Amino acid sequence: MAAVTVMDAAQAKLVTVGPVILLGAPGAGKGTQAKRIVERYGIPQISTGDILRDHVKRETELGKQAKAVMQGGGLVSDELVNAMVADRLSQPDCARGFVLDGFPRTAVQAAWLDGQLAGEAFARFQGLRSVPIVARMDVDYNQLIRRLTGRRSCPTCQRIYNVHFQPPRVDETCDLDGTQLITRNDDREEVIAERLKTYDAQTKPVSDYFANQGKVTVLDGDRPVDEVTAGLFALLDSQAGQA
Ligand code: AP5
Repeated sequence: MAAVTVMDAAQAKLVTVGPVILLGAPGAGKGTQAKRIVERYGIPQISTGDILRDHVKRETELGKQAKAVMQGGGLVSDELVNAMVADRLSQPDCARGFVLDGFPRTAVQAAWLDGQLAGEAFARFQGLRSVPIVARMDVDYNQLIRRLTGRRSCPTCQRIYNVHFQPPRVDETCDLDGTQLITRNDDREEVIAERLKTYDAQTKPVSDYFANQGKVTVLDGDRPVDEVTAGLFALLDSQAGQA
């Protein structure tokens, strides 16, 4: 059955929606779908991977600590990541909702987030749910490998492409701003294998954590991008504005 959206584009930009948590393995499409949610609902994407990569690029203290861990396919410590997310959530653009992409990634991060959403600091965001909308995208292992080895991204506007599934109009060039596309440092096969192992060992339990509270909606992430988006929009439309 086709997924049904109930709001038009203008309404979608006015409602409170989320917090939304996108779960899924590396390459499942979290970043791709988060950007579409941002466009439709006008809420910010909080990608811990993007924030960490920015720290690495700017060679901050956090970036120096994170660099080797990320290049090896492991996880940056809960303490550092939680502090980084706390700082981001304190910003006013989160008031109408936000979409978390790549966080929480361990059971410790999930419990910490639950505490934040139920806590006083969060109460200032009137109308935002204390119970997040959690969507997990499941994708076949071989498909994940193809997606990650084929991924390219624009360092200027962050748009994500794929040489197999979503190629740019001109090879290796961003459609939007003409910038030369880049391959992420951790999208090398040996690192991908480690990232997928880390996901199985440390991040799968996060889905169980939310599922035990009855919060997880599972989407078939193997479907084409637009179909996954339609499923997500239908879910978000149906729950938007519910505290
Ligand atoms: P992060 O940046 O979060 O990477 P990830 O979770 O490995 O996820 P990806 O960004 O690789 O995949 P995605 O699901 O966003 O897929 P995308 O939409 O790009 O984290 C990187 C590192 O930072 C971690 O390894 C860790 O070290 C550290 N880190 C981050 N958060 C942390 C945390 N909370 N705690 C500790 N450490 C943390 O899509 C992939 C490709 O597939 C693209 O080319 C896209 O075009 C294509 N595609 C997407 N959807 C479809 C579709 N439906 N059909 C066909 N192709 C598709």
